[in-house]
Order: sequence, then structure tokens, then C-alpha cells
Amino acid sequence: MLAELEGALDQRRDAGLFRSRRTLDGAQGPCVRIGERTFVSFASNDYLGFANRPELVDAACAAARTWGVGAGASHLVTGHQAPHEALERELAAFVAPCANARTLVFSSGYLANLAILTTLAGRNDTIVADRLNHACLVDGALLSRATLVRYPHLDLAAAGRALRNARGQRIIATDAVFSMDGDIAPLAELVALAEVHDAWLVVDDAHGFGVLGDGRGSLADAGIASERIVYMGTLGKAAGVSGAFVAAHPLVIESIVQAGRSYIYTTASPALIAETLRASLALIRDGARERAHLARLVDAFRAQVELPWRLLPSRTPIQPLVVGGVSDAVRIAAALEARGFLVPAIRPPTVPAGTARLRVSLSAGHAQEDVAALAQALHEIAHG
Ligand SMILES: Cc1ncc(COP(=O)(O)O)c(C=O)c1O
Repeated sequence: MLAELEGALDQRRDAGLFRSRRTLDGAQGPCVRIGERTFVSFASNDYLGFANRPELVDAACAAARTWGVGAGASHLVTGHQAPHEALERELAAFVAPCANARTLVFSSGYLANLAILTTLAGRNDTIVADRLNHACLVDGALLSRATLVRYPHLDLAAAGRALRNARGQRIIATDAVFSMDGDIAPLAELVALAEVHDAWLVVDDAHGFGVLGDGRGSLADAGIASERIVYMGTLGKAAGVSGAFVAAHPLVIESIVQAGRSYIYTTASPALIAETLRASLALIRDGARERAHLARLVDAFRAQVELPWRLLPSRTPIQPLVVGGVSDAVRIAAALEARGFLVPAIRPPTVPAGTARLRVSLSAGHAQEDVAALAQALHEIAHG
């Protein structure tokens, strides 16, 4: 058995698809330390630069003194504490996917998506999903045992056809901001499709919450709200901490509480995280300066790179440079690293074969000089 595993790992290595972790020797941020070296990092989802904000560190320390460090039980036993309750109320009012929405806090977006899809869909239902959705929406659909129909990226006509042919309860599932492409789903059109076909619209806003729509996320950015929308936002990316939440009509939320196995059968995340997130939410609300700076960095990066690789159209902090081959993407990432920049090479199966890419992610913690230096390094690598 071990020889079999070794063979499979060797094959993965030979194909250039071996994944390995790096260990940071310090806090997350625009500059990170690994061993003796410091890198300018374009490799996190800490879009607002909150992961090491002193206000949030202080909030975490103070909360630990009051609430301890562990929740000790699942939410439905005794793990649900006043900070979770307060955070849920504040998030519901902030993202407001529909009138009188409620929210439910999870310890990760992965668990939240599993709970949403397994609650809304069963064996006789149909989930219609964008082909480039995040893995955890795919996994939630598989776990629900519903029929999963994946439509070509952003193809509304194909989504409509799939909904027309669907059986049982219909659910449209989409990333709001696509994690490896940086583009944005046509949410207004999708909610209209959901109306026509009497479907739910599940929106995964892992990369929009905190950044788009004055921080309220992609629904606010698109100017939509509906009782059909089940909204998932994550709290470990722009919010800088950890966890996720689902916001939706109270009956949807109550159904997840009753039936969502990945909500029920897991220990609640610590109350100190909820308290830190309440402080983060206050910073997000007041984060116009960070968001304006981030938008200027996005514009500057796009204006400064003139490369043989395809920069995908994106107005979000995710700026992918599609290189094509796995070995080229890995080689360019290594050359950047040698120059002091961390930019991840994203390879299949995370992205479709032939579209290996560098995923540059910008953060409000970066300075214009960081972006200019990265653009310069990319040009040096591209043009020898
Ligand atoms: C689009 C998307 N959805 C969900 C997740 C999962 O969220 P979490 O990291 O909180 O599990 C991620 C990334 O991790 C993501 O990029």
C-alpha cells in the first residue's frame, strides 16, 4: 500500500503538480519572513491588510481574557456564546441579502458551503453551477447527492437551459468573484434566472466581502437583494481573521441549523474569533480609505504590466497572469521568488489544463512601490 502511495506521489512530482507548504516565520502581511529572508508577498487573500492589524490583535487578546480560548462544544450544545450571537446580528444588518435576513457563523467557508448545499438540495434535486466555482461548492453539491450540472463559465444561456431541463428543487450556485480568475459573476442576471425558474441562488462571496460594495460585498455591488439568495461570505480573507457566515431568509437559516451536518457536528469556533471579527467588521465599515488605495493599486498594476502572458480582465484584487504550461508557471514563480517576491503558481486541477497561471493578489497593505517593483521584476523575467 505504501509503495502504491509512493508511486502516485512520484507521478504527481513528475507532472510538476506536487504541492508543498512553506512555513512563514512571522505574521501574515504584505511582507513575510521565511527563514532569514523577507519577501514582498502577493500571495495571500488578506485584501485589506487586516490580518495583523494592531486593533484586531488587541481585540483578540482582550476577548481571550473574557471568553477564554476554546468554545468547548458545538453551537447546538453549549458552544454558542454571546459574541457569536452579536456577530451574527451585525453581519445580517451589514450584508442584507434580503429584508430581515438572519446569519449563521461557521468556522470556515468550506463548511458553510457544504451546509448550504446539503440543506437545500437532496437526491431528487438539481444544482446548476458555474464550471469555475470553488472546490467547496463542488464538494457541497456532490455531498448533497443532487444532480450536478456545470455550465461553461458565466454562460447564462447554458445555465438557463440546464434549469429548464432540471428536476426537483433547482439551485444555482456561483462564486461571486472567481477565486483564480478575479472576474465577477453576473449576479443580477442570475437572480433574474432564479426568478424565472423558481430556483435558489447560492452566492459564494469569499473574495468580494469586505472589498466590493463598500465592503458589504458583491450583492451590494450589483445592487440586488432577494429572498432567493443564500449568501456565503468568508471571514479569513478581507476580514483578516477566520471563519465564514451564511446570510439568508430566516427560514433558510433555521433549516441549516436543524439539518446542516457541517454546522451541527463540529465545535464552534472560539468566541475570541467572533469578538475579533466584530472589531474587523467595524474596520470594514470604515474601510473606504483602504478600498480606495486597493483600487488604485489594481489600476496601477494593470497599467504597468505589458507582458507576453495574458492578464485576465479583473477589477478585483485578484490579478491572474495566464502563462499556460505548468513548468513555465513554476519557473516564473521561482524567478520572482529569487528576486524577493512571492506569487503563487496555480496549476491544474485548481485551474483548467493549459491555463496555469500566476495569481497576483493585491492588498491595501501594499505600497505603490511594491506594485511597481513587481511589474519591473515580471518584465525582467519575461524579456530576459
Ligand atoms: C471562492 C471560495 N469559497 C470558499 C472558500 C473556502 O473558505 P475558507 O477558507 O473559509 O474555508 C474559498 C477559499 O478558501 C474560496 O476561495
